[in-house]
Amino acid sequence: ATHRDQDRAAEEHGERPALGSAVIPARPGAFRNTPDTDMSTAANQEWAAGIIHRVRGSRIGIDEIEAAQVTTREGVDDVYRRALAAQEAWAKKGASERAQAVREVARVFAAHRADLLEVMAAETGKVLEQGDPEVSEAMDFALYYAEQAELLEELDDAVLTPRRLTLVTPPWNFPVAIPTGGLLSALVTGSAVVMKPAPQARRCGAIIGALVHEAGIDQDLVQIVDVPEDEVGRALITDPRVDQLVLTGAYDTASLFASWRPELPIKAETSGKNAVIVTPHADLDLAAKDVAASAFGHAGQKCSAASLVITVGSVARSRRFSSQLADAVMSLHVGYPTDPISQMGPIIEEPAGKLADGLGSLGAGERWLAEPQQLDESGRLWSPGVREGVEPGSEYHLTEYFGPILGIIHADTLEEATEIQNGTSYGLTAGLHSLDLGEIAWWTQHVEAGNLYVNRGITGAIVERQAFGGWKRSAIGETSKAGGPNYLIHLMDAADVEGRR
Ligand code: ALA
Repeated sequence: ATHRDQDRAAEEHGERPALGSAVIPARPGAFRNTPDTDMSTAANQEWAAGIIHRVRGSRIGIDEIEAAQVTTREGVDDVYRRALAAQEAWAKKGASERAQAVREVARVFAAHRADLLEVMAAETGKVLEQGDPEVSEAMDFALYYAEQAELLEELDDAVLTPRRLTLVTPPWNFPVAIPTGGLLSALVTGSAVVMKPAPQARRCGAIIGALVHEAGIDQDLVQIVDVPEDEVGRALITDPRVDQLVLTGAYDTASLFASWRPELPIKAETSGKNAVIVTPHADLDLAAKDVAASAFGHAGQKCSAASLVITVGSVARSRRFSSQLADAVMSLHVGYPTDPISQMGPIIEEPAGKLADGLGSLGAGERWLAEPQQLDESGRLWSPGVREGVEPGSEYHLTEYFGPILGIIHADTLEEATEIQNGTSYGLTAGLHSLDLGEIAWWTQHVEAGNLYVNRGITGAIVERQAFGGWKRSAIGETSKAGGPNYLIHLMDAADVEGRR
């Protein structure tokens, strides 16, 4: 059935559409990822047009979706007291009962895919083509962590105890998938969850909470709170009742929170400065396309985004690759999600700080292959920027900009290129475009990043197939990767059968 059929069935019968076996895996170990919407069918194109129409008119009344406002320390105290009270009964349920409840969240998300896309587009400017895979990923997190929780219960040489209270502080750039993954991973282990969405994506957080509750999860067990980033926000993080913090955001933010309460277990996925190497053995057409998509998808506002491309040897010397890249980049349609042909949407707010510098000025020896242009009065719509002649060790090489800018660095050899790739303080994603098996084997042994991609874009990790997480300054705390087999165990306390900790 198409989404449109499902929506119509739901509207006519006042109930959620049934989903087929494509979504729920038949048995543990047979995990199947949730498919994205097939935009080649006329019916789904009409469905998407309906969402865009609603974003223009804000059908679901986006102003009315609000997380609970918590503006005082007493408010924080009340939130945590209720969460802990609800957790007692939740922890007593078996893993399979909790897993079933979390699977139900995936079903509810599927039924509300259009609403989630609408809120993401209206609130954060995410275009449908970027938002749709995010809903699939959120559902994958639900289904995968449910399955993992059941598998963990079968371990007989360890006793795993849930931590009672988890605080989740997600980012605004993946306002559905990352909050949902953080929330449900902790929840399925038996923890209560309090989540504070990013201020730029508070309505996305609120709709996630509403759907989790619609799936039958207790209102006190999962609470979405809108807390100002002042001393009340600090109290939310430093409260001794919080057993762990699951954070995705800038490295500096994570470090600051860690310094406030050093003994608090933190699982943080942080910043990146990610590069793709293109060698003379690459399929240059594919490389140009993948680099453009990795750099400018969601206007480059991804920790995983490509911010550098390192051209090796003859790729660097000939103009073929750079002119193909320039063509690919300049043909991207930049616009708001209300325009159905937008491929690259707006940035979250007018550029400030490092991003303003990165869009506005060049370093020594650099020149624009594509100069970024501000396209409207809002300051949020920018054409993609590509700078050539970036020097290893320069400001551009080492800085995360988190926006629509890409730099090109030249290197003589793959070894030199890999050194440049490894030369930042981060280690999140890294790419290689080469069809030479020797180069691929050498590179995978020498590159320093959490997620390696060969002959593929470097964003869009898939749950279970490409567990996601980095090292160096791309992570703080437990290093197990989201959407991978070791994620849940690091959210729990482990004791062996004799009870030794
Ligand atoms: N998990 C996201 C990606 O892989 C950040 O792009």
